[in-house]
Amino acid sequence: MDAFLSTLLPKESTQLEALRAYAEEYRVPILRSDAASFMRTLTTLHKPKRILEIGTAIGYSALLMHECSPEAHIDTVEIDPDTALQARKNIEAGNTKEQIRVIIGDGNEVLPALPGPYDMIFLDSAKGQYIHLYDDLKRLLVPGGLLVCDNCIFYDKIFTRPEEAPHKHRTIVHNLREFLTKATHDADYTASLLQVGDGMLIVTKNR
Ligand SMILES: C[S@@+](CC[C@H](N)C(=O)[O-])C[C@H]1O[C@@H](n2cnc3c(N)ncnc32)[C@H](O)[C@@H]1O
Repeated sequence: MDAFLSTLLPKESTQLEALRAYAEEYRVPILRSDAASFMRTLTTLHKPKRILEIGTAIGYSALLMHECSPEAHIDTVEIDPDTALQARKNIEAGNTKEQIRVIIGDGNEVLPALPGPYDMIFLDSAKGQYIHLYDDLKRLLVPGGLLVCDNCIFYDKIFTRPEEAPHKHRTIVHNLREFLTKATHDADYTASLLQVGDGMLIVTKNR
């Protein structure tokens, strides 16, 4: 099935193709191909004007969202300075410097200082910390806005109860489960967890 589905994925721009090849060679974790295709659909459908991303890596997903919503202003936050500088170079190479701002810092510290609001937020940083960003994500998202969270299945580890997970994954599984439960039971949200990529939680903030 995966082999067949991969033949249906859209061809990427030369820049995104090159970034994917780089990420594979140097083991930089970026959106999986099926998740990237889904992000393309979501961004094209939603037509956001202001986007926030947490977890830039080398800029692949920011550039993908820019391709789908060229008018949008994108703020993207990356904790690792070297990676963020690489992302800035890639963004400059794509002539998208005016539209995409790479903020170097820890999302936990940067988000509380952002005024927002944003029409779309893509959360793709450390899964174990999603829960700590919950209130700021909610504050920063406009009513009718879209929140997309990647890696919510955590390579199937989420299906194991935290107390049965290997010690090194226990906190992540615990926190991620708490985040998923909170988001899917929040009366202000309509949320759905999909088995796309490594598990994508799609949330709309009710108007
Ligand atoms: C999965 S990668 C992001 C991939 C990128 N969104 C893409 O698809 O092209 C996760 C990134 O989040 C960054 N990160 C981890 N914790 C973070 C934090 N607290 N604040 C900001 N960035 C963080 C990591 O350094 C890493 O570059």
